[in-house]
Amino acid sequence: MDVQKLIDTARAMVADNKGLLAMDESYPTCNKRFAKLGIPETAESRCDYREMIVTTEGLNESISGVILFDETIRQHLKDGTSFIKTLTNKGIIPGIKVDAGTVDMAGHPGEKITEGLDNLRDRLEEYAKMGLRFAKWRAVITIGKGIPTWACIKANAQALARYAALCQEAGLVPIVEPEVLMDGDHSLERCFRVTEQVLHVVFEQLYTQGVLLEGMILKPNMIVPGLDCLQQKTVEEVADATVKCLMRVVPAAVPGIAFLSGGQTSELASARLNAMNARYKSKLPWELSFSFGRAIQQPALGIWHGEEANVGEAQEALYHRASCNLSARRGEYLE
Ligand code: 13P
Repeated sequence: MDVQKLIDTARAMVADNKGLLAMDESYPTCNKRFAKLGIPETAESRCDYREMIVTTEGLNESISGVILFDETIRQHLKDGTSFIKTLTNKGIIPGIKVDAGTVDMAGHPGEKITEGLDNLRDRLEEYAKMGLRFAKWRAVITIGKGIPTWACIKANAQALARYAALCQEAGLVPIVEPEVLMDGDHSLERCFRVTEQVLHVVFEQLYTQGVLLEGMILKPNMIVPGLDCLQQKTVEEVADATVKCLMRVVPAAVPGIAFLSGGQTSELASARLNAMNARYKSKLPWELSFSFGRAIQQPALGIWHGEEANVGEAQEALYHRASCNLSARRGEYLE
């Protein structure tokens, strides 16, 4: 295991107030978003859309790394360049989603387990050879009546740790993503308690599997009330609760925490990240960054709409959202 290479990559992923852009939607997720806008659900459309994203002028000013999907790394831009090469030429680190998605967990109604450990060692070896330098695995935890169960938390945490150990063996930095979903009417306090427990178990499992904390990135949810909760909270309350929770459970050896957006609006995701950095940046042991999918892409996707003629305007919107999050990392984002 090349420890220094892992540490250098992990640090580079959160350096200079830049963050990660997730464009690793699986076929069903990407197709669902296209279908809503009447965009053809084809490999060609997915390729065109992702070409629009990676060719955005100035993307590397705010984006340190991009998370790709397996289909995309085998596709090419119209000029014949691969996506990996295009990003590398811009100084953006390419990474890849390696989990195989979630399925219902046996014996645990309403809960999910993430699959993808089978043959993962071989897949990671291929990805490393292709020039990818980090990977992502997403576990999903649902809050509801009687859930999450201990069984679900433990099984997902163990899978995350086994994935992370395999990544580091292959020289790839693992992004460890245990997402506590926003769906439901639970309170901010419940989200806090569940996230605290989940992260505690995740780090216990990472330790058990011998994962190098300096060579990984944590990708958690922010601490927010459920989408249907009547008591929504201010940006500052979310920022305070999130930092408090992370300070309790994330070891200082972890170089960076890159939040998922999880269905927050683009503006709220930036504002909350901004408040955390504005209030706490100088006091934290790790970088507080972003690894947003929807919160960066959503406005651009709506403008692009599958039309070549809209590429320029869509890229402006994408550039804008990415830049907003650079400002948010500095604590200088203005809504
Ligand atoms: P969202 O920011 O849209 O939640 O996506 C981030 C991600 O990569 C989820 O796995």
